[in-house]
Amino acid sequence: EKGGFGTFMEKEIHDQPKAVEDTLLGRTDASGRLVLDELRIDPEELKGISKIIVLACGTSAYAGMVAKYAIEHWVRVPVEVELSHEFRYRDPIIDDSTLIVSLSQSGETMDTLMAVRYAKEQGARTLAICNTNGSTIPRESDAVLYTHAGPEIAVASTKAFLAQITASYLLGLYMAQLRGKLFQGEIEDILADLHKIPGKIQEVLDGGDQIRELAREMAQEPSVLFLGRHVGYPVAMEGALKLKEIAYIHAEGFAAGELKHGPIALIDQGQPVFVVVPSPHGRDSLHAKVVSNIQEVRARGARTITVAEAGDGDVVDYSETVFYVPETQPLLMPLLTTVPLQIFACALAAEKGYDVDQPRNLAKSVTVE
Ligand code: F6R
Repeated sequence: EKGGFGTFMEKEIHDQPKAVEDTLLGRTDASGRLVLDELRIDPEELKGISKIIVLACGTSAYAGMVAKYAIEHWVRVPVEVELSHEFRYRDPIIDDSTLIVSLSQSGETMDTLMAVRYAKEQGARTLAICNTNGSTIPRESDAVLYTHAGPEIAVASTKAFLAQITASYLLGLYMAQLRGKLFQGEIEDILADLHKIPGKIQEVLDGGDQIRELAREMAQEPSVLFLGRHVGYPVAMEGALKLKEIAYIHAEGFAAGELKHGPIALIDQGQPVFVVVPSPHGRDSLHAKVVSNIQEVRARGARTITVAEAGDGDVVDYSETVFYVPETQPLLMPLLTTVPLQIFACALAAEKGYDVDQPRNLAKSVTVE
């Protein structure tokens, strides 16, 4: 049942090409238009949405942050992302033109369920992105978009995360199509690039030995920092969470731009810092700014490990180790840059002799508030 792997987590990391592929499957018609019939929500209603609030916890909330970047860019509708357990307590502004998008692998997370119920009472439309058929959150929502990652057994989420990001892209592209915000050709180009992602994830998996070797070597590190920017920011947060959860190492993810506002004081001789580097083909000068962040931490003694796009030579001089991922559209990069960080955490925890599938103090589905 572990497909020849020693742990469910390793198996599920390796299931990711299929999880993304299956989540994309059957969601376009013969002419290449997105059809999300299963949504059970009137397209007219989706056209009238004036604001989206994404609600989730933990890893699912990081998928929600990626969703925000993509949906705002493609659909031009404001998107807020909030942790479900904070949402109800701030008197949020919601009306019937607000769309609540909940992200939950299990569909049973009590914090998220309570937040969705609260939003419904306030008159919002609710849409669930969920991996578990017939679970409570999709049952209580107006609409549902299932991720097709298959059952996730390991407590630490991996393939469900990539499937949630994939489904969020589909939702964004569908709304852009409905509202005429992208040309049909642009949507088809993005979908074509999405369909190439599973093969590219496989390439990252095939290069896993380099990452596992580094993890073995770093098993005694007391603390690891992760930096990212734009969609690389939630990836950095996710890389840190994986390490805390299963390897019990102090880890923190930061927005790279925030470094100079405080966290750079943490950098000391030998401090490991992972940097998720934006595509050199992305917007503005983000890439250059992150490269200069790498230089800054390295100048203060950090051991820099970068996750960069294939062909990005600018990082080489400032990185002790570089993990390259294949090229794709800048917004789609989290589907690739997350994978080395998952492999790293999994290998490091295994090296320490921990049970990666059942980390201490954690449950797969958190059904209490
Ligand atoms: C992290 C992890 C948790 C869950 C969170 C939400 O690896 O598994 O942070 O992501 O508890 O769970 P769901 O998505 O089931 O609502």
